[in-house]
Amino acid sequence: MEFKEIQKEILGWKTSINGELTTTWRSPSNIALLKYWGKREGQLPVNPSLSFSLSKAHTTTKLTANIDTNNSGIRKVNNNKEHPFLTKIMLFWQTVIIEIPLFKDYCLDIETHNTFPHSSGIASSASGFSALALALIDLAQTISANKLSKEDFIKYASSLSRMGSGSACRSVNDGFNLWGATELWKESSDYYAIDINENIHSSFHNLHDAILLVSAKEKSLSSSKGHALMKEHPYANGRLLQANNNLSLFKKALSEGDLELLAQLSENEALSLHALIMSSGGGDILLEPASLELIQRIKKARNKGLSIFFTIDAGPNIHLIYPDSEKMKAEEFIHNELSDICSVDKVIFDYSGKGPEKINELNKSFL
Ligand code: PMV
Repeated sequence: MEFKEIQKEILGWKTSINGELTTTWRSPSNIALLKYWGKREGQLPVNPSLSFSLSKAHTTTKLTANIDTNNSGIRKVNNNKEHPFLTKIMLFWQTVIIEIPLFKDYCLDIETHNTFPHSSGIASSASGFSALALALIDLAQTISANKLSKEDFIKYASSLSRMGSGSACRSVNDGFNLWGATELWKESSDYYAIDINENIHSSFHNLHDAILLVSAKEKSLSSSKGHALMKEHPYANGRLLQANNNLSLFKKALSEGDLELLAQLSENEALSLHALIMSSGGGDILLEPASLELIQRIKKARNKGLSIFFTIDAGPNIHLIYPDSEKMKAEEFIHNELSDICSVDKVIFDYSGKGPEKINELNKSFL
């Protein structure tokens, strides 16, 4: 179905069963190679972005819903009425009740767990909001006795999770996801992410992401502030051009299995993101001296023939990316040449993986 038709259908869903209902979903985090930085009204991206879903870093979220017309909304997260995640969820909830009005009559409790620590350099908002959105739509289907097709369910889950955190919309499919309308992929959209694994060369099917933890300090710039600063950014037009040009080159590198080009583009994106942050006017520098040292060592190793490259999110931690064929050599390099900066207990070894899954006590199959 067209996205607008799915939205319209869900608007009409009505409560058809009573009693306590629960569902549990697990969703991965993702790492962007082409960065989303800057948004328009309605959590729509200024430029397209591209990422892959991670395997080990994920969030599991259980939702419990009960009818309560006087006291509707989200009551507790992990049994806590003052959980720090609640502020973001309350904002998100304003969209949920407009888009899925049947929740106006429900109160919900959330139980949520990440497989990675809060300050680990992995985006918990991506896995957190995608797991929550998937669980909400699943519950809404049960409450109203309706069922979307798997394709429409994923499309809608992606769009709803986008309202909690933009990058969350790219956590709904296996492997590579693309978010943002572009002429290069005719099914692409600003509202939801699409699965682009058909266009990925087999040598990139199993990419590794070793997250080199540099600092666990709270970031001086939240991503929402960073996106907002792009509105008046002197380089905003240049960035848009750069991202679109990079996207067509990413498409070429990913489909041809060209690691050299993929490395060059991913590093250009990561450094451009930080250059935009530093030139935003807020004076923020998110990279640490250790981040720069890691970057230099990674570049040097690549020049000597190791097929590795880095990417960085809006923080100081470095994501070292390598294909499965280079796993042994890359991990030896981390142990031998990066461990004085980043001891092995400060490296999270992750790799590209599957999209979300519905978890049942008895049955772990998807949908
Ligand atoms: O999803 P947000 O609003 O936290 O923004 C994420 C921005 C980056 O992680 C820096 C880039 C990206 O595309 O994931």
